[in-house]
Amino acid sequence: MLYINNLTKNYGSFTAVNHLTLHIPEGDLFGFVGPNGAGKTTTIRIVCGLLKASGGAVKIGGTAADVGSREMKRLIGYVPDFFGVYDNLKVREYMDLYGSMYGMYSRDIAKLADDLLELVNLSDKKEVYVDTLSRGMKQRLCVARALLHNPRLLILDEPSSGLDPRARVEMKELLKNLHSMGKTIVISSHILSELSEMCSSIGIMNRGKLVTAGRIEDIMQQLSGGTRIHIHIASEMETAVRVMKEQDRVTVESVRENELIISYGGTDEEICGLIGRLIQNQVILTGFHREEGSLESLFMQLTGGAAQ
Ligand SMILES: Nc1ncnc2c1ncn2[C@@H]1O[C@H](COP(=O)(O)OP(=O)(O)OP(=O)(O)O)[C@@H](O)[C@H]1O
Ligand SMILES: [Mg+2]
Repeated sequence: MLYINNLTKNYGSFTAVNHLTLHIPEGDLFGFVGPNGAGKTTTIRIVCGLLKASGGAVKIGGTAADVGSREMKRLIGYVPDFFGVYDNLKVREYMDLYGSMYGMYSRDIAKLADDLLELVNLSDKKEVYVDTLSRGMKQRLCVARALLHNPRLLILDEPSSGLDPRARVEMKELLKNLHSMGKTIVISSHILSELSEMCSSIGIMNRGKLVTAGRIEDIMQQLSGGTRIHIHIASEMETAVRVMKEQDRVTVESVRENELIISYGGTDEEICGLIGRLIQNQVILTGFHREEGSLESLFMQLTGGAAQ
């Protein structure tokens, strides 16, 4: 649905986006991840028709993303990384203002704004001044505003930055919800683990280039040696070690009293199979989890240890 082909952006002699090619299918929840300065915002602004590319092409369906293209604006809902200042504007008036910018009738806006504010959990803030909302609420309001014209693609640039853990969870739930309603969503972040929990696929960008893109599980398999998994075992540790050693793509890394650590190069479904093998062999499991740091270490590996 979103086709980015050989996209390049130069600022003078500096190349911020370097021959980026990426296809995001309809219905995807795509995470765009990269360290500061990777070129995420630049790419997003070009896709939204807010910045002119130096080379290459961007298309949504059959529509080209030219700067100022009205058609493109209709197709995209954009949540920028910085929220503007809106003195003396109440939440309801803010939605009204944006709706009228899209040429909608006040009557239609009012009904839709009610529904959208409910979706983002701001129904009780309609008469409140936008500037007095918390950052998390402003971000959610921004999402509601971006959905007013029912865009085919919703693009959010770092929607969780500056949010506390609870607001992050709320934002994540909101995006998952929109995804399950069939919306195609692109979200950027520099925190890979945050994206991996909700996105169906991700692209990792570094210094203007796309380092890798694809389904999370496929990317995980690029991790040298695979995913590290901690298995907590109440009894039959010897059996567990033997069974694990018999499996393909499993490396037993360490054996402690009640914990076995393995590396595994399989998919999530195959990981379920490993649990099954242990249970079939009468091993009593008390825990089984993927090491948290795996994704971050992959990210560091792929971005050459660049600072986040
Ligand atoms: N208007 C500009 N003029 C010159 N250089 C720019 C301009 N805008 C961005 N850049 C440079 O382009 C590079 C990519 O910036 P961009 O904002 O796209 O990165 P980002 O991935 O969004 O980073 P962050 O995670 O910090 O938001 C950076 O090195 C930045 O300094
Ligand atoms: Mg940015």
